[in-house]
Amino acid sequence: MKEQLEKIYSNAANDISKAASINDLEQIKAKYLSRKGEFNEIKKNLKNLSNEDKRIIGSLANEITEKLEASIKEKHDVFYQAELNKKLQQERIDVTLPGKFIPRGKVHPITSTTNEIVAIFQSLGFSVVESDKSPEVETEYFNFDMLNIPKDHPARDVQDTFYTTIAQNVVLRSQTSGAQIHVMEEQKPPIRVISPGRVYRNENINARKNNFFHQIEGLYVDKNITFGDLKGVLNEFIRIYFGSSRPTRFRSSFFPFTEPSAEVDVQCIMCGGKGCKTCSGTGWLEILGAGMVDPNVLNGVGIDPEVYSGFAFGMGIERLAMLKYAIDDIRLFFNDDLRFLKQF
Ligand code: DAH
Repeated sequence: MKEQLEKIYSNAANDISKAASINDLEQIKAKYLSRKGEFNEIKKNLKNLSNEDKRIIGSLANEITEKLEASIKEKHDVFYQAELNKKLQQERIDVTLPGKFIPRGKVHPITSTTNEIVAIFQSLGFSVVESDKSPEVETEYFNFDMLNIPKDHPARDVQDTFYTTIAQNVVLRSQTSGAQIHVMEEQKPPIRVISPGRVYRNENINARKNNFFHQIEGLYVDKNITFGDLKGVLNEFIRIYFGSSRPTRFRSSFFPFTEPSAEVDVQCIMCGGKGCKTCSGTGWLEILGAGMVDPNVLNGVGIDPEVYSGFAFGMGIERLAMLKYAIDDIRLFFNDDLRFLKQF
């Protein structure tokens, strides 16, 4: 039995020395050391031996088993380390390779122009009305009624304003002026706010008109506010936005919610006032509407026009961006052409 054991041992040792992979070693383990392996077969016969032989053969069998296990483990570790090294070598990361270029987006020119205008009015003491206070899907009450716009006013016509199917009196707002009503219904004077946002009009789209665009509304209500204050604030805004050398003029005009009303023009950017296609030969371009808040509007929101007065203004953001950057087609802002958008 002893010889048998030694024979198996030398066979196993021989196999181990020839093993070329972890897989080979697993097979050797199964062949000799598993429950059905050759050693166990021998151990099964131990019960037939004398006690003395049992002890000798048993301990020899254990010794041999331990030796085989140790040499299998030793070889296994060598293979394992070699495989690991190979893997690490293959998967090595070259940190000197150049990174992947991730193109960076830009702020849309309408957004950046809005931010710029908002910052100017903030520097003049105006605060911004949160957009959720003045929604784009609006009732006629805010968009027209409370702004003193008569029921038969042409601006209410479906030719001009988009009506929704939500309810008969719900429109896509055609101007940001409704923000004035939202603010004055919630807040008592002094009020000094601006409210930027998108507006919608049922237009035939061309280079000058889109069926949506953006406006900034302004409102200043307090005691003793005069047309002089209106001119002071708007001239200061224009000076900061266009630079001090750009001539401006106030023209009298009409809006139902202001009295008196004015429109403000700046000298045409394209021709410097000589007259061209952009300014229809006049040398001037209109940039905003403004006026003293009509007493009817103040009365409607419960502000006493005998005590308080105020001015309001509204300007088109596309128009202001087009003038600043000499853009001749409003549609460029909205057709997502990166060649255009990347320039800002
Ligand atoms: N809402 C007017 C428009 O869309 C612009 C406007 C004119 C706003 C006069 C005002 C204002 O606040 O006082 O054409």
